[in-house]
Amino acid sequence: MAEVDKYRPEDKRAVEALYRRVFGIDAADASRLRWEWQYHRNPNNPGHEPEIWIAREGPAIVGQYATMPVKLTVRGTEVQGSWGMDVMVAPERQRQGLGEVLFRTWDRNVGASLGLGLSEASYRLFQKLRWPDVGPVPCFVKPLTRRALRRPSWPVPLNRLVSALTLPIVLIVARTRPLRAEVRTIQRFDDSFTRLWEELAPKFDFAVRRDAAYLNWKYVSAPHVRYSIAALRRDDRNVGYAVYRHVYEPRGRVTLVVDFLTDPDDESGLSTLLNWIDREARHADSDKIRTFAMHSGFRRVLRRSGYFQVKSTMEMVAKVNAVEVDPAFYQSPERWHVTLGDSDQDR
Ligand SMILES: CC(C)(COP(=O)(O)OP(=O)(O)OC[C@H]1O[C@@H](n2cnc3c(N)ncnc32)[C@H](O)[C@@H]1OP(=O)(O)O)[C@@H](O)C(=O)NCCC(=O)NCCS
Repeated sequence: MAEVDKYRPEDKRAVEALYRRVFGIDAADASRLRWEWQYHRNPNNPGHEPEIWIAREGPAIVGQYATMPVKLTVRGTEVQGSWGMDVMVAPERQRQGLGEVLFRTWDRNVGASLGLGLSEASYRLFQKLRWPDVGPVPCFVKPLTRRALRRPSWPVPLNRLVSALTLPIVLIVARTRPLRAEVRTIQRFDDSFTRLWEELAPKFDFAVRRDAAYLNWKYVSAPHVRYSIAALRRDDRNVGYAVYRHVYEPRGRVTLVVDFLTDPDDESGLSTLLNWIDREARHADSDKIRTFAMHSGFRRVLRRSGYFQVKSTMEMVAKVNAVEVDPAFYQSPERWHVTLGDSDQDR
């Protein structure tokens, strides 16, 4: 029978070898590049140690659950949250109950156990263990050029026809709008963003604490991606931010709005940041902008700013242990703030 306990530095090579077997060489290489930052340098690590559980059979490592500790606000109370990320069981030991032991050990040790963007196998296991299912985090896309609606699977004449028919709509949606507040790019988040978070936290039923330490770790010092950060300013104060980057996808160039924060009642704040990102996306020659948002206020502003809701594959589960919440809490996430930047989704 396997034993589950905490990760030790001498486990590193065996865990890397297991990762290669379960997820393949490319994913293992990418994980190695991020590992030190992702697990060691997280400012929310309890006792400054990585939050990783290991399943051992004698000297062999047969499974792991690697997680991302975060501070989480749940209806006004801050709890110790944890995103489950790289969970794996050795192929010859799968479907024998080891995954369940790992999930339950993790859950017993954290104030809230959270999953985002799950694989089929882990989503099924979360369901089997009756984790509350929050559903997918809504995905929004704003087309900027006629190439935005192209599909590689369609023949060229059909792509041309769709581009021609939708062009008038794209031109209206993508028109430039004036900025209604000052926006400037920044290199780092200063302490004013911690104060902004503390001011805004009561407006969310559920959100990861976005203080300067977390934001700098997540969006300034990540080794695998480069982000741009825009700060929204009013009366010489930072009152919001957006984090974004431009990527090439098989269907064209895309600007991803990875994370953002404004007062959810400040419609003009978020729409100003979105206008800024429109300009940046155009400069980068993007065909479209994509983002994810759970909060109903933010979703409304996105729609008013020319974004369309599309099918989302970013499933979310959440189980809060540290404070009492009723089942309805998970069924109406209108005041939850969850974005693509949460967990390790943008990698
Ligand atoms: C996900 C994983 C850790 C589960 O570990 P496990 O030891 O197999 O899980 P358990 O034996 O405790 O539980 C089995 C349950 O998990 C789910 N499950 C596991 N593998 C599955 C698969 N390939 N397809 C669908 N469901 C699966 C099912 O609900 C299954 O219940 P069932 O056997 O009654 O149908 C393991 O399958 C794994 O390493 N998968 C590959 C890596 C991966 O997908 N990681 C998740 C990244 S988000």
